[in-house]
Amino acid sequence: MKFILFCFALFLFCWSSTCTINRQAGYPFPEPDLLYPAKLDFTNNIIDTNHQKKPKLTEQQIRGKKLFRKNCASCHRRNMVDDMTGPALRGVTERWAGRETILYDWIKNSQAVIATGDAYAVALYKEWDNSEMNAFPKLTDEDIVDLLSYIERE
Ligand code: HEC
Repeated sequence: MKFILFCFALFLFCWSSTCTINRQAGYPFPEPDLLYPAKLDFTNNIIDTNHQKKPKLTEQQIRGKKLFRKNCASCHRRNMVDDMTGPALRGVTERWAGRETILYDWIKNSQAVIATGDAYAVALYKEWDNSEMNAFPKLTDEDIVDLLSYIERE
């Protein structure tokens, strides 16, 4: 007798929880994907969360991209993660954190920064077999802000 009561209670419990789930899904419409609820929007259309595109380039990043293609892409890979003639540039602002003015000086004229004996610059130059980066005396600080914004976005 106890067993029958137990089964009945179990049945009631399961039934009520199914009802709750179905109500959430707007029963009798298709059931939601309970394992991956993030894939559902409110109209139950499946949204593919894994293939969302990168956010659009901002105006600043578009300017940076043009500058990058024109001046830097011959040595620094466009995907920013693989090395080429020069090192991959992703994360560069972090590597120079707190030394932004020196980073700007570097981009304008890397040899001048190496000549000051800056430890990081000298070590980097050595690591890259003393290959010289072009100097870009024409780049303004604004150009460099645009460039770095693009570099970090890629
Ligand atoms: C002729 C090839 C060449 C060009 C063109 C070039 N670079 Fe470089 N870059 C290098 C090399 C090589 C290094 C490694 C250091 C060295 O050997 O001087 C480097 C290093 C750097 C670094 C330091 C990277 C780090 O990890 O700290 C930055 C930042 C940088 N380049 C930015 C730029 C930007 C921005 C441009 C375009 C305006 C540019 N480079 C154009 C060759 C180049």
